[in-house]
Amino acid sequence: MELAGQSAVVTGGGSGMGAASCRALAARGVKVAVIDVNQGAADAVAAEIGGLGLGCDVSDSTGVAAALARATEAHGTARIAVNCAGVATPGKIVGRDGPHDLDAFRRVIEINLIGTFNVLRLAAAGMTGLAPLDTGERGVVINTASIAAFEGQIGQSAYAASKGGVVGLTLPAARELARHGIRVVTIAPGLFGTPMVRNMPQVVQDSLAATIPFPHRLGEPDEFARLALHIIDNVMINGAVLRIDGALRMAPK
Ligand SMILES: NC(=O)c1ccc[n+]([C@@H]2O[C@H](COP(=O)([O-])OP(=O)(O)OC[C@H]3O[C@@H](n4cnc5c(N)ncnc54)[C@H](O)[C@@H]3O)[C@@H](O)[C@H]2O)c1
Repeated sequence: MELAGQSAVVTGGGSGMGAASCRALAARGVKVAVIDVNQGAADAVAAEIGGLGLGCDVSDSTGVAAALARATEAHGTARIAVNCAGVATPGKIVGRDGPHDLDAFRRVIEINLIGTFNVLRLAAAGMTGLAPLDTGERGVVINTASIAAFEGQIGQSAYAASKGGVVGLTLPAARELARHGIRVVTIAPGLFGTPMVRNMPQVVQDSLAATIPFPHRLGEPDEFARLALHIIDNVMINGAVLRIDGALRMAPK
C-alpha cells in the first residue's frame, strides 16, 4: 500500500513501539490518530507529529468506537490500524501470597487480547466501506503479540496466554477479511528497549540483553516501526506472525 496520504490509527501510540510507529508513519506522510489510555502521552506524540491524540481504553467497546469516529472525522476512515497497546503484568500461578489473582489475569487478557480484537473488529468494519486500492486491498491491521506467546516464561502465564490469543486469531481474521481486501498480520517482538523494559533495573535489562544472540542488545522501537511499515507496503504479507527478536528463544526464567 502506498503510504502517503493514508489515514492510520495506532493504539498504545503514546509510548514505546506504538509511538515509534506513529513517528514512522507520519514521516511517510500518513495522517495518524494516536490512541492511548494515557491521554497526555497520546497528545504529546500527536503534537510532535501533527496528528490527533485520543484518550481511550482499547478494551472499551464504546470508547474505541468513539475514538475511531473522531479519527475518521479528522483524517478519513483509516486504512491502517496498528495495535500496540498492551500491559505485561507478571504473576505466578501459585506465588508466595497464594494463587494468581483472577481479576489480574482477566485484566491482562482484557487489554492485550480483547482490546486487540476490539480495535481489529471496529477498524476492519470501517475499512470494508472504503474503495479498494490498485492492489485490491482496502486496508491492513497489524497486531502486536510477543515471543512470550511461544516461549512464555515463569510468571508470564497471563501475558503469554493473551499474546497466544493474538497469534491464534491472526489467520482466521486474515482468512475472513480476505474477501474485503483487508490484511491482518501480527508482529511478535522479542525484547525491546521501551519503557515496558527500560523501567526494569539496569542489571535486569543487561541480563535480558545478554540472552539475545545477535544483535546482542535490546531491540530499538524504530526497528519494530520499520517492520510495520514494510508490512503495510508489501501486499503479499498476510495472515502471518512475524518474529523480530535477534534469534532470541526465551528460557523458562
Ligand atoms: N518491550 C518489549 O520488549 C515487548 C516485547 C514483546 C511484545 N511487546 C508488546 O509490544 C506492545 C507495545 O509495548 P511497548 O514495549 O511499546 O510498551 P509501552 O509500555 O512503552 O507502551 C504501551 C502503551 O500502551 C498503553 N496502554 C496500556 N493499556 C492500554 C489500554 N487499556 N488502552 C489503551 N492503551 C493502553 C500504555 O499507556 C502505553 O502507552 C505491547 O503490546 C507489548 O506487550 C513488547
